[in-house]
Amino acid sequence: MEKILVLDFGGQYDQLIARRVREQHVYAEVKPYNAITLEEIKSTGYRGIIFTGGPNSVYDEKSPHYDPAILDAGIPILGICYGDQLMAYMAGGEIRSAENASEYGKVELTVRKSPLFRGLSEKSVCWMSHTDYVCRLPEGFTGIASTASCPYAAMANDARRLYGVQFHPEVTHTACGKEILHNFLFEVCACSGDWNMEDFIASSIEKYRRELAGKKVLCALSGGVDSSVAAVLMHKAIGDNLTCVFVDHGLLRLHEGDMVEKIFRKQFKMNLIRVNAEDRFLSKLAGVTRPERKRKIIGKEFIRVFEDESKKLGKMDILVQGTIYPDVIESGKGDASVIKSHHNVGGLPKVIDFEGIVEPLRDLFKDEVRATGLKLGIPADLVYRQPFPGPGLAVRIIGSITKEKADTLREADAIFREEIDRAGLNTGIAQYFAVLTNTKSVGVMGDARTYGYTVALRAVATDDFMTADWARIPYEVLERASSRITNEVKQINRVTYDITSKPPATVEWE
Ligand code: XMP
Repeated sequence: MEKILVLDFGGQYDQLIARRVREQHVYAEVKPYNAITLEEIKSTGYRGIIFTGGPNSVYDEKSPHYDPAILDAGIPILGICYGDQLMAYMAGGEIRSAENASEYGKVELTVRKSPLFRGLSEKSVCWMSHTDYVCRLPEGFTGIASTASCPYAAMANDARRLYGVQFHPEVTHTACGKEILHNFLFEVCACSGDWNMEDFIASSIEKYRRELAGKKVLCALSGGVDSSVAAVLMHKAIGDNLTCVFVDHGLLRLHEGDMVEKIFRKQFKMNLIRVNAEDRFLSKLAGVTRPERKRKIIGKEFIRVFEDESKKLGKMDILVQGTIYPDVIESGKGDASVIKSHHNVGGLPKVIDFEGIVEPLRDLFKDEVRATGLKLGIPADLVYRQPFPGPGLAVRIIGSITKEKADTLREADAIFREEIDRAGLNTGIAQYFAVLTNTKSVGVMGDARTYGYTVALRAVATDDFMTADWARIPYEVLERASSRITNEVKQINRVTYDITSKPPATVEWE
């Protein structure tokens, strides 16, 4: 299989680069620069290498470096941002810090003729984010692009198949970024582009069949897309050695538990244990109002429940989780600041009673997970289900959680989702749900005064859930939802619609 190595020097876009390569049907894997030796790189037979960006300056003592002999390994290399400066430095060029002239944001780029820029117009917009820049090219390199303040926005040594770009071709703000990566993969590395999601499935199945042979594996199934895809993938690899445990923590959506049970037990014929643990979770959550605390409690309780179940089953060796790449970043990769501790990652207690955790989807983005799910034969209804957080309605009930509040929210949420689906809006809106605020206010119904909860409706359009825009739902649909909720859900007498984007808000209310 043709493979590209993304050698990570601490940038934030390592997985995004890998994904952009996979989008072009070439397999890419990310390795931290200090986790793979030059010998290993050579023996793996990579078609090409991409050096990622990173926050350092090449002359800093602590900055990440690599054996310069990598430039002579005969493997094409593309250096991006820090990776570009590092390549120049290793090859004998000079880097300078433009202390007062750092370039950040969209910048006009002028390119010259090069295999890397085949098919590009002379001028386009690229995304820059740097202070340091290459001020003197190494011997044998030529400048192939420039911006107003960066004389060597890109450099090339065609004979050695070494290329560097100061800007970021992997982000969508670089208008020709996709073409540049395409040129690197196909013009420079001579890839054929025959990789697809089926190859990922086949190699994962093969890998886990080998690595988990004879192991008893437990899968934490939530019924969401991610854990469902992880479970089915694992089931294909190890069959009945996999037992799925589905914890009903009492914070699921209306009828969700029954649906999950039906799909996995009946359709996929998996070993499925449904644990009804509503009392256990709600008693642990009683009186807790801080969202991060709720998350930690639920994450911890989940693991305890799995441990208890695995004890009943006899010793289980491995825990499978449906963590996907955006969960990893949002929970703080490396030094990145923690936005919220994701249920699948940060919520886990330190000591758990398994030999190990396996996360087969850890490197994939959501759309890649969906494509995998479809290829695995999971019904489209399930694959395209909107995301639902692991801690469930706990993150949608502001303030303390009670069964009454959860039941109230479940009813309102089901009505809102039904109205969106009925209006045919479900495909254009990535996520839509109701939130139970902890505001109560006076209302009037018939001739009587009421004192009920305010529910907030939330609907967002987004591709990647990193940023999101609030959905412009027609007033009539909002009106129907509001009228039905206040009529059909006794405890609610007021409905609001959230018109905040992410950022500054997040998708969920917590
Ligand atoms: P936020 O609120 O961070 O949500 O803008 C982004 C997306 O992530 C989902 N989400 C979660 N998914 N475990 C998950 O698997 C979690 O703990 C979790 N918290 C939020 C959220 O529903 C939205 O789609």
